This record gives sequence, structure tokens and C-alpha cells, in this order.
Amino acid sequence: MKFFIDTANLAQIKEANDLGILDGVTTNPTLMAKEGIKGYEAITNHYKTICEMVDGPVSAEVLGIEFEGIIEEGKKLAAIHKNIVVKVPMIKDGIKAIKWFTDNGIRTNCTLVFSAGQAILAAKAGATFVSPFIGRIDDGSWDGVQLVEQIVNIYNTQGFMTEVLAASIRNPLHIVRCAEAGADVCTCPLSSILGLLKHPLTDLGLAQFLNDAKSMQ
Ligand code: G3P
Repeated sequence: MKFFIDTANLAQIKEANDLGILDGVTTNPTLMAKEGIKGYEAITNHYKTICEMVDGPVSAEVLGIEFEGIIEEGKKLAAIHKNIVVKVPMIKDGIKAIKWFTDNGIRTNCTLVFSAGQAILAAKAGATFVSPFIGRIDDGSWDGVQLVEQIVNIYNTQGFMTEVLAASIRNPLHIVRCAEAGADVCTCPLSSILGLLKHPLTDLGLAQFLNDAKSMQ
């Protein structure tokens, strides 16, 4: 399973990248706005900086919701850097645009996916990645990981090449369960990635080893 970081924060991207386990980055308008990025030039420069930091796919989301606008924006985003993947919402014009991007050699990430039916449409249109939103499904008392499992099964049965990118990850257990479910990619906040490190027995064991090591000096 590939690890992407789900943020537009450069310090967090650097911290995850320095671990040596980062395969890519996903952003969305909320995450970009959180960093105070405003205006076309600033947005373009920020994506370029991220692409130069991480050697892997970097999802940049279109803001338009109509076919022509999505295509115009997507073409500009894709021209910023070879790492850019155009993120397109799961709407009718979005599916049309994904098909257009696929036919024109531009990689896409179909976002805001909450059902297996939506994931089938995204795959039919040729999306490179499909992003089911795990945490937001859990927020409604359904099971987000179950959807990942269902999409993985359908894609395997049907031979779809679209990669299942588990998004809206909220904790380390989500990452473990998505790995079990066969997700191709998990995009996570830095806190969830670092949470995977934690175990009290590791801390206790290390404290004992360090203490015993003193008697060997
Ligand atoms: O990649 C989509 C993700 O950023 C959404 O996460 O926590 O806002 O549901 P969240």
C-alpha cells in the first residue's frame, strides 16, 4: 500500500517525506485555504513547490463544476509539473471530464466518493485514482472501510485498473484496516502516520534496554 500525505502544509509534507516512506500528496481546497494560499499565482507556486519536494503523484483539485471549466483548469494544473494529478469531484460533468482527461493522457483522482456505484463510474471513465472518504462515512455511523473493501473487490472482479485511494483518514487504525481491505493507497494526515509508531511496550522495552545498556559501559 502506498502512503500519501493529505495536507498542503509544507512543514508536514517535509516531515513525512524525511521519514522516507512517502509516495505522494493529496490536497483539496479546504487544505489549501488553511495554508492561506490565495490567487492563481500563489496556488500554482504552492503546487510546484510540493511537486519539487515529493517524487510522486500530487493531487491538485479543480474548483469548477462544469465540464468546460474543469477541462480548462485541469489542463493548467497538469502543465504545472509532471507529478500533478487532477482531482475532480464525483459529479456528472466531473465524470465527463475524467473521461476527457483519460483520453488526453492526464491523470485524475475522482474525489468525494461515498458509494460503490460512484466508484464504478469513476473506473469506467478511466480515473487513475478513486477516493472514498472513510472518516466522513464513519461520521454518519456507517463503516467507511467496508466501502473500501467493496470497491477493491469490484475492481478486482472486473479488472478495473483504477487505484483505490482511501481518503478522509482520521486515525492509525483506519490505515491498518485500509491495508487489510486491500487499498492501493492511503492518504493520511501526518498525525495518523506518526500514530502508527506508537506502542507503550516499545517505549517500556526501550527504556529498559537503555537502562541496561548503562551497565555495559
Ligand atoms: O482527501 C480528502 C480528505 O482530505 C477529507 O478529509 O478529514 O476533511 O474528511 P476530511
